[in-house]
Amino acid sequence: QELQMNLEQIEKGGYDHFMLKEIYEQPNVIKDTYRGRLHSNEGIIQMAGVEDHLEKFLHADRIIIVACGTSWHAGLVAEYVFEEFTRIPVEVEYASEFRYRNPIISSKDVVIAISQSGETADTMAAIKLAKEHGAFVFGVCNVVGSSISRESHAGAYTHAGPEIGVASTKAFTTQITVLTMIALRLAKAKGTLSNSDFHMYLQELEIIPEKVKEALETAVTTKKIATTFKDAHNCLYLGRGYNFPVALEGALKLKEISYIHAEGYPAAEMKHGPIALIDEQMPVIVIAPKQGHYDKIVSNIQEIKSRSGRIIAVVTKGDTQVRELADYVIEVPETSDALSPLITTIPLQLLSYYIAVFRGCNVDQPRNLAKSVTVE
Ligand code: G6P
Repeated sequence: QELQMNLEQIEKGGYDHFMLKEIYEQPNVIKDTYRGRLHSNEGIIQMAGVEDHLEKFLHADRIIIVACGTSWHAGLVAEYVFEEFTRIPVEVEYASEFRYRNPIISSKDVVIAISQSGETADTMAAIKLAKEHGAFVFGVCNVVGSSISRESHAGAYTHAGPEIGVASTKAFTTQITVLTMIALRLAKAKGTLSNSDFHMYLQELEIIPEKVKEALETAVTTKKIATTFKDAHNCLYLGRGYNFPVALEGALKLKEISYIHAEGYPAAEMKHGPIALIDEQMPVIVIAPKQGHYDKIVSNIQEIKSRSGRIIAVVTKGDTQVRELADYVIEVPETSDALSPLITTIPLQLLSYYIAVFRGCNVDQPRNLAKSVTVE
């Protein structure tokens, strides 16, 4: 028993929980993900699985992304990235819905399955269905040799290393990294991004690990915020554009490990419902980096403020406008709009983590949840 305990301590590498260790591993694993694939000086992105099937991607009528849970959120980010960079239409589907709704699939479709474990039953069934209809299936998995990676025609691993905490963290950011690289590779082949933008994104992606490291320094602030909000019953997460999926993912993390009810929403949709929930008790986490739809989100923040909601804003370093309105600000380094989910998601992971710890929850193994769901 004692030996077992010691072993676990060693595996956690000095961190209290696997989840915290995995959050802090992100700068390194993102580097592992792009190592050997991203060559910013030469302006090259090379991924064997994509190179070997480049024609399939380039002639695709559309890309259908299937996934569950956090991987589905990475898929939503990818939808925005793919459409902007490559102009290929993208649909993102919950694997569980896709498999049972008699979807329209043809041999001109490329299906991307995203799965950390590579074992999720619904995602597996979705790709089997896609294959039956002649689609080309590309897997983005973390676990090497997993069922989904074997069932796919081709794929790219995320190289995040083992993820033990049930709540997914480093798998999410590495999935986004892989998918962004694929989009950049296709954009180059299609000529849908200008040369200067292409090079800018390559360089920016290369220094993202440094910025993630900087974003991890928000632990001090998020910990303080967590002590204030640990007893909340509800939480609303808002974001726009690339940061809308980040809002969903932030809310999912909080639900999963702290059991606080949380909802993620596109900020502009707030007025069609969630605004009714806002009172002086309601913490609203707004992702409001300088890039993107800044002015729009500022006016959303004003709407929350005028209803006395308690605003926690994730902002770009040096921001002054949101600071005046928000009760709490969390500053993260600036990056391009399309890459911002890799940065803005970090303080949200930390916030959920500390809230769950302060509530005495079992962070690594939350009740009723499993790391990989191999049954329906
Ligand atoms: C479970 C896990 C989640 C995960 C989801 C999809 O619900 O608890 O963290 O996002 O499955 O798993 P996958 O392995 O397919 O990414």
